[in-house]
Amino acid sequence: MATDALKARPGAVLRGEIRAPGDKSISHRALILGAMAKGETRVTGLLEGDDVLRTAGAMRAFGAEVERLGEGSWRIVGQGGFSEPADVVDCGNAGTGVRLIMGAAAGFDLCATFTGDGSLRKRPMGRVLEPLSRMGATYLARAGGRLPLTLRGGSLKGLTYQLPMASAQVKSAVLLAGLGAEGGVTVREPEPTRDHTERMLRAFGASVEVSEDGDVRVIRLPPGQRLTATAIDVPGDPSSAAFPLVAALITPGSEVTVKGVLLNPLRTGLFETLREMGADLTFDHVRDAGGEPVGDITARCSPLKGVEVPPGRAPSMIDEYPILAVAAAFAEGRTVMRGIGEMRVKESDRVALMAAGLAACGVGVEEEPEALTVIGRVRASHPPVRGGASVTTHGDHRIAMSHLVLGLAAQEPVAIDEPGMIATSFPGFVDLMRGLGAGIEWVS
Ligand code: S3P
Repeated sequence: MATDALKARPGAVLRGEIRAPGDKSISHRALILGAMAKGETRVTGLLEGDDVLRTAGAMRAFGAEVERLGEGSWRIVGQGGFSEPADVVDCGNAGTGVRLIMGAAAGFDLCATFTGDGSLRKRPMGRVLEPLSRMGATYLARAGGRLPLTLRGGSLKGLTYQLPMASAQVKSAVLLAGLGAEGGVTVREPEPTRDHTERMLRAFGASVEVSEDGDVRVIRLPPGQRLTATAIDVPGDPSSAAFPLVAALITPGSEVTVKGVLLNPLRTGLFETLREMGADLTFDHVRDAGGEPVGDITARCSPLKGVEVPPGRAPSMIDEYPILAVAAAFAEGRTVMRGIGEMRVKESDRVALMAAGLAACGVGVEEEPEALTVIGRVRASHPPVRGGASVTTHGDHRIAMSHLVLGLAAQEPVAIDEPGMIATSFPGFVDLMRGLGAGIEWVS
């Protein structure tokens, strides 16, 4: 089997019911909090993608016992704190992994050196290092706060920190460091971001106080918290479910159900936007699962209309703009996405790569520093996107999956490079999509 590239061919109808892989954000947090707590934490539904496996390895390096019991089923025995790793901690492609682990590690008297793959070594770590150093941690990093970097933690003092950008990773790093800080920490969030750390800290027995100060969300972690091991069942990842669901929306005759998807309102901006575009999306069996809302989502092929996405919605769908841009290419009219500058510092510059990939597939796009406009069809009855391109993904899993979805509904096939990177967040993507009927194949 050649594995140099993947190609998606149009022509098939997608039908069936699948389960999304475990949520990546919650999986990282389950491993990290499990390792910080004292005692045995059991995790089911863990995402076994490369990013999360790196975090599992890192938790071993910091002294926890981490064992895989079966598919998605893991046991973590924490020591009630981190010990100093004997070697460099390599977090692979995972921004969430490295930023949260740096926050957690800063609270302990240890020295740790972190690195990652080529993409992670380009990403800004200063946004985490700045609050951690205000709390008393010290570090030595490459220019611009880039990895590899060495962090020395311990003896932290409390901090009140207003987030300068909407980032759940920065918020979480400060909260995790706060567990080891003398005065506790307060994070002020002008734009609410995913709150999995707050929810999970509570599940581990910590007290987290959340209040509003005008438009600012204030999260207070008082000092002297102790984490107690618990059981975590990880729900399906809405950011991964987005790919088969959008594929069904744009592929004629299709109907796909994704079961057990996390429906935390701070993660569902894409579904809200798709509904505004006219998507036939239904939500069934909505229930509470371990403190998070979960449900089954069905998407049926629908004529879509372009919309203006409110910039304030960006934090709740920041990872979903690439696949939204694909849906927009099949919609009637223009879709305008503003306030998306943070997309440029993800696994790749996603604004630039989506603009380039869509343009190569014959779609009209307008790129601005903080915005992307996709020019859809003149009428829903017009022929779909041309496709017929080989897209450069710069190793970005979401750029890869977005363009493969586009290829399923375009006039001509679309190929992507570096297909192995899809496994960072969605290891079974190709088999699962094929199971729904999609024509995706390996090519050399
Ligand atoms: C994540 C937060 C977001 C998101 C990332 C996962 C998290 O990043 O893009 O994929 O789990 O906290 P930022 O905090 O940088 O916005």
